[in-house]
Amino acid sequence: MNIQVYENAAQIGKAAGALFAAKIIEKPACVLGMATGSSPLPTYAALVELYEQGVLDFSEVRSFNLDEYVSIDRSHEQSYYRFMFDNLFSKVNIKAENVQVPYPVSPDPNSDCAAYDAAIDAAGGIDLQILGIGNNGHIAFNEPSAVFPFGTHIVDLTQSTIEANKRFFASADDVPRKAITMGIGSIMKAREVMIIATGAAKAPAVKAMLQGDVDPQCPASILQLHPAVTVFLDTEAAALL
Ligand code: F6R
Repeated sequence: MNIQVYENAAQIGKAAGALFAAKIIEKPACVLGMATGSSPLPTYAALVELYEQGVLDFSEVRSFNLDEYVSIDRSHEQSYYRFMFDNLFSKVNIKAENVQVPYPVSPDPNSDCAAYDAAIDAAGGIDLQILGIGNNGHIAFNEPSAVFPFGTHIVDLTQSTIEANKRFFASADDVPRKAITMGIGSIMKAREVMIIATGAAKAPAVKAMLQGDVDPQCPASILQLHPAVTVFLDTEAAALL
C-alpha cells in the first residue's frame, strides 16, 4: 500500500485529483468508480478545475458509483445520484448516458444488483476506484459483519452509519435505513484503488484498516490484499498509526 499523509483535505484533493487525472489522460475511455460523502469533494473540485483549464476531457469516460440510498428519489437533495451531478458530472463534459449510480427499480432488487455487477464487467471493469471510509471501517455501504459480501447487494445501514450521516438530513429519523451497495468483491476487482480519510474521528478505523487483521468487522481491512492501493490521510486521520 502506498500511504500518503498530508496536512489537510485540500492538499489531499490536489494529490488524489492528480491520480485521477493521470488515469484519464492515459486512458481517455477509462472506467472510474465514484464515491460520495465529504471525503471525495476536494478531489472532485480538483478534477473540475483541471477540466476548466483544458487539461481533462471526460467525453469518453464511464463511471459507476459505489452506492445509493434505497428509499429516496433520485431528485432528493441527499440522493447520491444528485450528489454526483451537483459536485462533478454537471461541471465536466462526461456524458449522462456514461454514468451509472445503482438504484433498485424492479420488483426483485437482487436482479438489479446482479445487473449492476454485470454492467461493470461489460464495461471492462473499473480502472480506478475512489473510496472513503466510515467511522466503523465500512467501505461503500459494506458494514462490519461476519463475512465480506461479494457482489452488489441491498444492505441495512448500521446505527453508526445512520448517526454519521444524519448531518446531511433534518434528523436521524430521516436517514434512509437501506442502501444498495457494491460488494467487497466488486471493489476488489478494480485495477487500482484510492481511499481518503480525514479528521480524528476516522483515526481508529484507519488504524484497523492498515494495521489490524484482515477482518470483515473492519471491511476496509480487505484493502491490505489489493495490489494497487493509494491511501490519502490527513495528519489527524493518521494520528494512531
Ligand atoms: C459513499 C460511501 C461511504 C463513504 C463513507 C465516508 O459513497 O460509499 O462509504 O465513503 O461513509 O463518508 P465521508 O466521506 O462523508 O466521511
